[in-house]
Amino acid sequence: MAAGFSLPSARERTPLAEILLDHIRSEGPIPFSEYMRACLYHPEHGYYAQAEARRFADYYTSPDVHPVFGRLVARQLAEMWERLGRPAEFTALEGGAGTGRLAAHILDFAERALPEFFGALRYVAVESSEARRAMQAQSIGRHLGAGRAESRAALPQRIPAGCVFSNELMDAMPVDRLVHSAQGLREIFVGEREGWFVEVTALPHSPRAAAYFARQGVTFAEGQQAEAALEACEWIEETGRRLERGFVMTIDYGHEAPELYNTRHMRGTLLAYRDHQVSEQFYGAPGLQDLTAHVSFTSLDLWGRNAGLERTGLASQTRFLLALGRANEFGDVYDEGQTETERLRARLKLKTLIYPEGMGETFQVFIQHKGLAAPALTGLSEL
Ligand SMILES: C[S@@+](CC[C@H](N)C(=O)[O-])C[C@H]1O[C@@H](n2cnc3c(N)ncnc32)[C@H](O)[C@@H]1O
Repeated sequence: MAAGFSLPSARERTPLAEILLDHIRSEGPIPFSEYMRACLYHPEHGYYAQAEARRFADYYTSPDVHPVFGRLVARQLAEMWERLGRPAEFTALEGGAGTGRLAAHILDFAERALPEFFGALRYVAVESSEARRAMQAQSIGRHLGAGRAESRAALPQRIPAGCVFSNELMDAMPVDRLVHSAQGLREIFVGEREGWFVEVTALPHSPRAAAYFARQGVTFAEGQQAEAALEACEWIEETGRRLERGFVMTIDYGHEAPELYNTRHMRGTLLAYRDHQVSEQFYGAPGLQDLTAHVSFTSLDLWGRNAGLERTGLASQTRFLLALGRANEFGDVYDEGQTETERLRARLKLKTLIYPEGMGETFQVFIQHKGLAAPALTGLSEL
């Protein structure tokens, strides 16, 4: 392996940093995906093993902003149920359900506003973090108790009819990091020097990264870096296999391959989040900061096809929420008995979700279907 370069970084010697440095000293440099997996999912010291209070100090997701996000997603799920011919049981499976906040918004709204759909709804909240799963007992405890919802660590074997959806799951899947050098594709590994992490470039540890980019038709400029999201591809393919009829809906920030891998992203899209600050300090505080990379919707499309998923469409979150909300002039944003000040506050939160300069254009909604003819969906309709 070639020697790499040190990164100027804030160094916080977390317990996980010590574990990883010891491991690298004895085994040699590791792929970035292994480092990222430990940072996010180490059972004791990983970012997602921590209490959720920590996360609010770092960043917010759409369900944190206002329940109207979940209410409009519920309307889209109800329409999917219609498109499937109103099956007696419709599984709404949320991948990476976290503490169950979005689940609560969807279930409570469906119960109140979409009673027929609610009668068929079976909500499966899939969350790998034990700490977060435990918190679902509070957020959706009533629905769990009634048998309307189920909390699980992993996907069930079969999903007969329904929709598998996620919000900010794919961007949290470990990625490998590659760089296109004059000699060809090289991988950025995580090594150790003088007691801290260094990046080490060498030949890729597997041919899969090169195949990942080739299948998406990506060509790189010299020196360009990019992430290979192989775990996200595995997840979508496995999900597609287990789904017999229905939809997969991925809400996340990202692009199609030509945009994601263009020279505007010469350093890739990997970012660290801590204290509402975004940085490239990937080694700053292992286990105490979130790490994410933009999603390639092209890769989800291509790997989904391996399992019979077909592309339904891609829309910005702006278009998706506007299309679903305009039918009742965004009445879903309000709760009964609200004062005018509360209603105004709710409208401002809706703007954060929808406005292009807020989350609206950053986030995209990518929908795939299986076992039914190309369905028209309100969330993907033109405005
Ligand atoms: C960025 S958080 C998003 C949480 C939530 N969806 C939201 O919007 O607030 C990603 C979540 O996905 C979970 N996760 C990651 N990989 C997973 C997997 N393979 N299966 C289930 N959950 C997973 C993490 O533990 C974490 O709770």
